[in-house]
Formats: sequence, C-alpha cells, structure tokens
Amino acid sequence: MLMNMKELLDVAYRNKFAVGSFNVANSEFVRVVIESAEEKQAPAIIQIHPNELELVGDDFLAYVRESCKNTKVPLAIHLDHGASVKDVMRAIRNGYTSVMIDASHASFADNIAITKEVVNIAHAVNVSVEAELGTIGSNEGSSEGGADKILYTNADDAQTFVEETGIDTLAVAIGTSHGQYKHAGKPELKLDLLAEIHQKVGIPLVLHGGSDNKDEEIAQTYLHGIAKINLSTDMKNAFFKAVRQFLLENEGAYEPDVIMPSARKAAKEVVKHKMDLFQSTNKA
Ligand code: 13P
Ligand code: ZN
Ligand code: NA
Repeated sequence: MLMNMKELLDVAYRNKFAVGSFNVANSEFVRVVIESAEEKQAPAIIQIHPNELELVGDDFLAYVRESCKNTKVPLAIHLDHGASVKDVMRAIRNGYTSVMIDASHASFADNIAITKEVVNIAHAVNVSVEAELGTIGSNEGSSEGGADKILYTNADDAQTFVEETGIDTLAVAIGTSHGQYKHAGKPELKLDLLAEIHQKVGIPLVLHGGSDNKDEEIAQTYLHGIAKINLSTDMKNAFFKAVRQFLLENEGAYEPDVIMPSARKAAKEVVKHKMDLFQSTNKA
C-alpha cells in the first residue's frame, strides 16, 4: 500500500526502529525492495535521486506507484536529495508521496527559507518533507554526492531549523558518508551528538550514507531518534557483483531473464538483512 512517509516514520519513531529507504534506478531494484518488504513484512521507502530519475524518466513513476499500490506492506515513494523547488514540483506532479529538499550547502538562513517554501507547497497536497542540516560526506562513485568534509549537525541549530520550517523529518550529519569508505575505513558515528539532537528536536530523524557502517553502531541510531535509514551502495554493489560474476561465468549470456535472477537474489539478501538490522522486520 502506498502511504505518506510521515505516517510511516511516526510509527517507527515511536517504536524505536528505522524504515529502510532504498535508492532504485530501474525496475529490478523496485522488485528487490518490494519483494524483500513482503517477505520480511517490513515497511519500506522507495527513493529516487534526481540522477536516477534522469536515467528512468518521469513515466517510470507510474510503474512504481502501481507496484506499491498492489502490495499489502506500507510503502512510500520519496524524492532523494531534491536540489531545488523545481525538483520538488516535478516529483509532486509525478506522484511521489514524500520529498527531500537538500539545501544543506546553502547558508543557514537560505536553507530555512527554501525548506519553508517546499513545506508550504508539499504539505498543501499531503506530501511529507525531509530537509538536511549539516553535510553528509561523499565517497568515490556514489551518485548521491555529498561534501568532501563532513559538517556535523549542531543540535541547537537543528531545533531552530525544525521549529522554523515545520518539516516532517530531518537528515542529520553524524559522521556517515554516501558510498563505501575506501580510504579511511568505517567511521565512528557521533551517537552522543545524535542523542542531543534527538532530545532537542523531537521529530523523526534520517540517517544518510547507511551503507558500509558498523552494524552495532547502526543498531544504536534508531534508539536515538533515527526513523529512516538511506541505503543505496550496499544493495547496488551486491546486485552488480552478481551480474559481473554471472557474465564472467556465462560469456554468451544476453537475456535479462537469464542474467537478472541471481543479481536480484543477491540484492534481496542485503535488503532483507538491513530490514532485520533496522528492526523493521514484522512491523508492516
Ligand atoms: P549509501 O550509498 O551509503 O547507502 O547512502 C545512501 C544515501 O544516503 C542516499 O541518499
Ligand atoms: Zn543521501
Ligand atoms: Na555509506
């Protein structure tokens, strides 16, 4: 079933678990997320980044919406890292039930102003809004980008930001980066900072850069207000590793229905593990 993301996150927040939000860039990944959600009886969010939207095109949303409506588990469709009011309007026109406006690189005042504008537009049509304060790091190869240097979210600023903008959920920077940690290794997440933000802000929080972290640290985040964890790299890596392996072992293969099943299975294993890790299993 297709839902507003706020309803999903409020349940997760109250019950101290996190809903996985998975980046899809083709129909295979939509199947991966929905089948995993059904098998795990877990709520889930399907998110599409503007770069991914470039690849699939707006019409793809009709397929995603129908797929979500035809399942019993709660699902939301979310715009990941919308960069402008234009991105947000486009998403709303195409039937997303939730949008992110990421003006985290702008000044604090500008971030508030643009986020407020998005909240006014989106809430008028029952679409929920995520915004970001501080910056998530970036690693090579990740489509979602990010900053070279992580600027940790300030808890007092977060409180002001949430009060001023009326957002439904806030993405915080506590040490994660998009993609895999190639050089420096897995980061230590600032869980004390997260606890402080949680205490001051009082709305569901979002963790970006969910891949390639320590499981035991991720398991702490939803005890401190994280209700949505963005996951892209770990799932896509598993998928394309399986594709690569299959093509190496079967040089003449060219039929998608022959090549894709092993990749779908590998990606589903990752997604289902994350649903267990985020404690969203059996919460549908
Ligand atoms: P990862 O690629 O680290 O999973 O991060 C995904 C993300 O935050 C998308 O917005
Ligand atoms: Zn992100
Ligand atoms: Na990551």
